[in-house]
Amino acid sequence: MKIDNEELIVSLGGAAAVAAMTHEQRADALEDFQISKLDARAAERRKKENFPTVAELEDKIDKRGTRQGMGKIFRAQKGKLNPDGTTGPDRVKRLPKMPAKPTLIDFFEHRFRSPAHLFQSGALAKRRGCSEEVVLACLLHDVGGFFMKADHGYYGAQLIEPYVSEKVAFAVRYHQALRFYPDPAVDYEYPIRYYEAFGVDYVPMPHIQKAYEYARNHKWYMEARLVTINDLYSFNPDIEISMDEFRDIIGRHWRDPAEGLGYDGNPVAHMWRTFINPDAPL
Ligand SMILES: [Fe+2]
Ligand SMILES: [Fe+2]
Repeated sequence: MKIDNEELIVSLGGAAAVAAMTHEQRADALEDFQISKLDARAAERRKKENFPTVAELEDKIDKRGTRQGMGKIFRAQKGKLNPDGTTGPDRVKRLPKMPAKPTLIDFFEHRFRSPAHLFQSGALAKRRGCSEEVVLACLLHDVGGFFMKADHGYYGAQLIEPYVSEKVAFAVRYHQALRFYPDPAVDYEYPIRYYEAFGVDYVPMPHIQKAYEYARNHKWYMEARLVTINDLYSFNPDIEISMDEFRDIIGRHWRDPAEGLGYDGNPVAHMWRTFINPDAPL
C-alpha cells in the first residue's frame, strides 16, 4: 500500500512528535495508519454497491433447494439445484470413469469441476517467485470446496494432509480464516465478493477469529497469507492455464499412494472415494 508520508506525519501530530517516538512506537503508528486507510477504503467500496446484509442472506435459506455449503461435485452449475449458479445446465453431469489407481492429476482432470481458479492461483504464485510449496498450496487451496464449501479450508487440508508437507496443509487450512483479515503490510484487502457472499455486516465466527490469531502468530503465517494474496486476483475467465504447468511441482511435493488415492487405507481415503463416486446412494 502506498503511504502518503505527509498525511502520516500530520496524523501523528507533526514532525516533532514523530521525532520523539521510539522505533517501536513508529512501527505501531504506521500499522495503525495503514489499517485505518484500508478501513476507509473498504467503507467506500461498501457504499458504492448495494450489498446484501447478513439478515437478507439468511432470509434466502429456505427459498433454495439446496444448502449453500454443499460441495460443487454434488450440484449442477445452475437451476433448481443451484439457483445462484451463473452458467451451465440444470443437471449434474455423468462423470467419466476413474482409473483403478487414481492420482491427484486424475482428480484434477476428471473430478474437480472448473479448476481454472486453482490453476490461475498457482500460476500467479509461480510468476511471483513463491516457493514450490506455496505454489502447490495455491493450486490445492480450494479443493475442499469441491467436496464441501462450508469450512472448505479445513476439508481441503484434511484431504491433502497425508500427501503433502505440513507447511502446505497449514497454508491451505488457514487461508480460509486469513481471507477475512486485511494485512496492509502485504497489500491484502478484505475481498469485495465477501460482502456479497457473507453480507456487508458479517463478522467472522469465533472459531475463525481464533484460527486467525493462531495463524497470525505462526512461523508459517506468510505461507498461508500468500495463498490469500494469490487467491484474490485469480478469477480471470480469459486466462487458460493447463495442468502441465504444475506436473513437476506435483511430482516433487505430492506423494500419490501406490494403491491410488481412495484405496490406501488412510483415514481420509473415504473422502477421495466419495469424489470417485459421488452418485453412490449411501
Ligand atoms: Fe478459499
Ligand atoms: Fe480461492
